[in-house]
Amino acid sequence: TGQYENIIASKPDPTITLITLNRPKALNALSSPLFHELNSALAAAEVDDEVGCIVLTGSEKAFAAGADIKEMKDIKYHEAYGKDFLGHWAQLSKIRKPIIAAVSGFALGGGCELALMCDIILASPTAKFGQPEINLGVIPGGGGSQRLAKTIGKSRTMELTLTGRTFSAQEAEKWGMVSRVVGEGEGEVVKEAVEMAKLISSRGKLAVQAGKEVVNAAFELPLGEGLRFERRLFQSLFATNDQKEGMAAFAEKRKPTFTHT
Ligand code: CAA
Repeated sequence: TGQYENIIASKPDPTITLITLNRPKALNALSSPLFHELNSALAAAEVDDEVGCIVLTGSEKAFAAGADIKEMKDIKYHEAYGKDFLGHWAQLSKIRKPIIAAVSGFALGGGCELALMCDIILASPTAKFGQPEINLGVIPGGGGSQRLAKTIGKSRTMELTLTGRTFSAQEAEKWGMVSRVVGEGEGEVVKEAVEMAKLISSRGKLAVQAGKEVVNAAFELPLGEGLRFERRLFQSLFATNDQKEGMAAFAEKRKPTFTHT
């Protein structure tokens, strides 16, 4: 739709919102206006009853080359801390529908962190990740140090944070940061992400929402609490029509028709 300047929001399928970062001249640097538009598009997808899954992507050359360095270079401490600079980035992690990042090209600094905030990362072989903030005299500020440490371990995270070196899609896959590296072709990673999003959207929405909630709980809760939370949500799904339909369909050897109730 034409309502945004820095992103494009579209629906390649009635059940999917595709958000494409679109500041090609700045390699999709994540300026405040861009991020506010991203938050608006995510909020719109969240309340669109047809939509079951969101795909977030950039261009072939860059998913996003980080926070906008030109915008932040003159910010003073009292402004950064006083106005909670980058605090609005956290809105993305409040979205309850699944978000798939389809990453080609540079995903550096805030771009890498943006991918890490998503629920699933698919990478093109061209993807180039990194946390190069150390080269700018700072450190990751969009969650990179925390999410990387929990995902790929302390030693690797420390190396990447302190040297700023970039890493490949293959490394990211080997370390468990991305779920898959897909084919080379142009647009392939987005195509693959949209197919995955369609599959997720075809499932019962309440179960999908619960699934996202429990997996994310693994990053926040101690194991005992996480296991209890998972079991309680699992049990609660027996109150849904989709559980009755899903299990009846299995027993009757037919496809389920979920009503998201
Ligand atoms: N912010 C603002 N502008 C950026 C940018 C960024 N993060 N990354 C690239 N651009 C701009 C460049 O300034 C350039 O603009 P001009 O044409 O007006 O000069 C344009 O995008 C194209 O970039 P390059 O000419 O540099 O392209 P390249 O192919 O030679 O290099 C690159 C690509 C290696 C990604 C290089 O652009 C680069 O190193 N970018 C910065 C990466 C970075 O340091 N990211 C971390 C930012 S800090 C951060 O994100 C903080 C946080 O944790 C939240």
